[in-house]
Amino acid sequence: MSSHILCWDDYLLEEMLSKQDGLINRVKTGVEGLDDIIDGGLPVKSITLVSGPPGSGKSIFSFQFLYEGVKSGEKGLFLTLDKKVNGLLIQAKKLGFDFQPALEKNLVKFRFLNINKKLIYEAMVNEILSGEYDRIVLDSITPLSEMPIYLNSTENKNKFDNSFVNPEEFPINANLPVRRLHLHYILNSLESSESTSVITSELTMGSSLFSRDGISEFLADGVITLSFDPTMDRRKLSVMKMRNTKHTLKPQDIEIREGGIRFI
Ligand SMILES: Nc1ncnc2c1ncn2[C@@H]1O[C@H](COP(=O)(O)OP(=O)(O)OP(=O)(O)O)[C@@H](O)[C@H]1O
Ligand SMILES: [Mg+2]
Repeated sequence: MSSHILCWDDYLLEEMLSKQDGLINRVKTGVEGLDDIIDGGLPVKSITLVSGPPGSGKSIFSFQFLYEGVKSGEKGLFLTLDKKVNGLLIQAKKLGFDFQPALEKNLVKFRFLNINKKLIYEAMVNEILSGEYDRIVLDSITPLSEMPIYLNSTENKNKFDNSFVNPEEFPINANLPVRRLHLHYILNSLESSESTSVITSELTMGSSLFSRDGISEFLADGVITLSFDPTMDRRKLSVMKMRNTKHTLKPQDIEIREGGIRFI
């Protein structure tokens, strides 16, 4: 009798071979037209940064991504720092994404992360690493990346995993603007999870950066920018980066309507 039990090495080899063949598993974004220009969707377990100015559609993209998963029975987590959850659910429902049935079946979870609470990182990372979710959204990463951290203070001792920082190098109780540290911490936890993630970043109008912090675009596997031209009443979506994917860099015309974002 032959055994079909795969050991870890076999698993890694299979994954490597499938990548060489270009057979990377893809996760549909739910954005009509986008999946066609990125080989069928976001690479499974990847992290994609979606950035744009206020009103460009970042939250709508995030709803759409999560809702697409829910439709096929995948579990989703929506971490938000900006608004109360009820407001978000109403906004999503108005666009045609009714998460209520999925919430009742525990298929999806919306969690408001209050940045004024000290244990925000712990709560967030515990959720991310719970291994429960196929898709995770973090909307948005900007307030998190701009939070100060306090090293070596008694109050915050053990509240932040600063194992990769040598506290001796910094003055006691130093309040450091360490964006890179925050972003590495958040992105590392998303990377360690088994989920496919979308994180959003707020840009100021006309910004030439891909994220507010200027760092996450290097750490993420993919970068999608959303923009609009008020004088022409036009919206655009551009795929600026997508690892393991051949894609156009050309900005694509999009519209937002009931059903979310779609290519026109
Ligand atoms: N039903 C709708 N039909 C058409 N357009 C809509 C509809 N609902 C929202 N919009 C458009 O989408 C915009 C809001 O999109 P969204 O909330 O995703 O933006 P955002 O990039 O997340 O903004 P912020 O940075 O402020 O959070 C609105 O300003 C409006 O232009
Ligand atoms: Mg938003």
